[in-house]
Amino acid sequence: MATYPDLSGAVTDALRAPSVHNTQPWKWRIRPDAVDLHADEDRHLDVTDPDQRDLILSCGAALHHLQVALAARGLAVEVRRHPDPEDRSHLATVTVRSAGAGEPDAVSASLFPGIATRRTDRRRMSRRQVPHDHVKSLQEHVKIAGAVLVPVTDPHIRGRLVMALTDATGQQRQEPGYAAELRMWTHRLPGSHDGVPAINVPPPPIGTARATGLRPFGQAALAQPSLPPGRSPDDDAAQLLVLATLGDDVLDRLRAGEATSAVLLAATRMGLATTPLSQALELDTSRQRMQTDVLGIPEHPQLVIRVGWPAAGAAELPVTPRRELRSVLLPD
Ligand SMILES: Cc1cc2nc3c(=O)[nH]c(=O)nc-3n(C[C@H](O)[C@H](O)[C@H](O)COP(=O)(O)O)c2cc1C
Repeated sequence: MATYPDLSGAVTDALRAPSVHNTQPWKWRIRPDAVDLHADEDRHLDVTDPDQRDLILSCGAALHHLQVALAARGLAVEVRRHPDPEDRSHLATVTVRSAGAGEPDAVSASLFPGIATRRTDRRRMSRRQVPHDHVKSLQEHVKIAGAVLVPVTDPHIRGRLVMALTDATGQQRQEPGYAAELRMWTHRLPGSHDGVPAINVPPPPIGTARATGLRPFGQAALAQPSLPPGRSPDDDAAQLLVLATLGDDVLDRLRAGEATSAVLLAATRMGLATTPLSQALELDTSRQRMQTDVLGIPEHPQLVIRVGWPAAGAAELPVTPRRELRSVLLPD
C-alpha cells in the first residue's frame, strides 16, 4: 500500500472549513493512503440545530476543503460517502488513488488559495452589484458538488426571504435553551480554539433594511466600514443565494456542505465577501415556508449565502480560531 506523508497537512487545511458557531463538529482518522471523516456529535447544537442539518453541512464543508487541499498537493482521490451503513457517524472516506490511476481535480486545486483567506463577513457590503457572470460561475461550482444555487433577485421574493430569516430569529429566541447555547459559543474563554469571537461580529448597520436577517450574536466588537458622505447603510448590494438539494437526507446535507465550501472558496477567489445564514433552515416550519411560500421550488433549501463586494475601506477580518489537529484525530 502506498503511503502519503502529507495527508496530515491536507487535514490541517481542512480544519479551516466554516462550521455553525465555529463548533468544528468533526473527527478524522488519518491512514497511510486514506482519511476518514466522522461527525462529532458531542459538538452538536441540540437546540439551534435540532435535526443536525448544520452539523452535517459543516462536515460536508470540511470534506470539500480536504478534497481541495489534496488536489492542490497533486493527489487524485476517490470519495466514498457513508461508507459504513453500521456507523452513521462515519460520513466519508477519501482514498488517494495510486500514481497513474487518475488526475488530481483541477477545479478543486484552483480553489486552494481561498482556504487561508476566506472569512465569514457579517458587515455591511458595497453598493456595487455582483455581476451575473460571477453568480453563474458559483452556480456551476454548486452543480459539480451535486446541489443547486438559487439567486434571489426579485425584490418581493428577497423581502419575503429576509422576513423568513428575521421571523426565525424571533422564534429561536423563544426556544428554551437557544440563548444559552448561543452564549456558550459566543463567550468562549480567551485563547479558546472554537466559537465565534466578538471581534468577528459587527453591530447591525443602524437603519438598514437590507442587512436585516443576519443572526444576532450578542457581543459585537467589529467595526462597520465607515459610510462615505451621502451614502446610506441601505446602499448594500449584497445578493442572497439559496443553496438547495433534490432530497433531504444525510447524504444530501453532506453534499450541500461540500457545495457550500465550493461557493465560499470560489467567491473568495473572485474577491467577494460571504456570509452563510442558516437560521431560517433550522426550524421545520420556517424551512417549509422557505421552500413553498418564499421560493416556490421543488428542491430542499439547505443554506442561505449572502455574497457581495466588501465595502470600500473595509478592514481585513481577523482569522477565527481552530482546534489543533491532535485534538480532532481518532486513534488508528
Ligand atoms: C452550516 C453553517 C451555518 C452557519 N450559520 C451562520 C449564521 O446563521 N450566521 C452567521 O453569521 N454565520 C453562520 N455561519 C458561519 C460560521 O459562524 C463561521 O463559519 C464560523 O464562525 C467560523 O468563522 P469563519 O467562517 O470566518 O472561518 C455558518 C456556517 C456554517 C458552515
